[in-house]
Amino acid sequence: IQQEDLLYTGKAKQLFSTSNPDIYWLHYLDSATALNGKVKEEYAGKGELNAQITRLLFQALDQAGITHHLLKTVSPRDQLVERVEIIPLEVVTRNVAAGHLVSRFGLKGGEVLTPPIREIYYKSDPLDDPFMNDSQAISLKIASQEELETLYQMADQVNDCLKAVFDEIGITLVDFKLEFGRRSRDGKLILADELSPDNMRLVDHTSGQSLDKDVFRQHKGDLRAGYREILNRLEKLF
Ligand code: C5P
Repeated sequence: IQQEDLLYTGKAKQLFSTSNPDIYWLHYLDSATALNGKVKEEYAGKGELNAQITRLLFQALDQAGITHHLLKTVSPRDQLVERVEIIPLEVVTRNVAAGHLVSRFGLKGGEVLTPPIREIYYKSDPLDDPFMNDSQAISLKIASQEELETLYQMADQVNDCLKAVFDEIGITLVDFKLEFGRRSRDGKLILADELSPDNMRLVDHTSGQSLDKDVFRQHKGDLRAGYREILNRLEKLF
């Protein structure tokens, strides 16, 4: 399969078409962004770390029978994925209070959330990804009621699977963001995007240290150390 035209440059990835109309080429960049792209920095090797972590986590989802877009790894930072029409929703699951949940509701942070919280945000850079509820998503034709049910159910399954994987390597999965798409060849709702520390909060059980993008957001040093640690521990598991 040949890489063809650049379709889209996101904050940390580029999407290309390929010689097969049902397959896209995903290229992981080295950029780290915060505040919806207003702060941006390059970290050589970050793209490879995220591509590898994503590959291993999708492998774990395969074992749990969760359908995702990853088809094949073609280089340390390039993947072939199913062509989907992305649903413009960011689906956030929270197991422990952190980030915007803490600021929005005046919490202390660190509270265990039972049951886990599910949220959706409308994916829009110019609007800064506003919080959205189900009735807004349905009425504005962003997703059908049935699609929302599937998407929440899949997010729960991903949460169960990833929580167990990270527990095994001594890490707490605090929260994470997923994106879903309608697969071009049959319309099926599948998991898309990446599964990396850019989109999750991950805290080491013993040290309590963040191993995710919070290190960059809070100017606490080089985020690659935590990303490498996650990849090393995952590689030992698989
Ligand atoms: O910022 P907030 O607390 O809402 O983030 C919850 C989770 O969703 C975090 O793991 C964060 O990395 C992820 N997220 C994301 N992309 C966004 C917003 C949040 O990956 N645009």
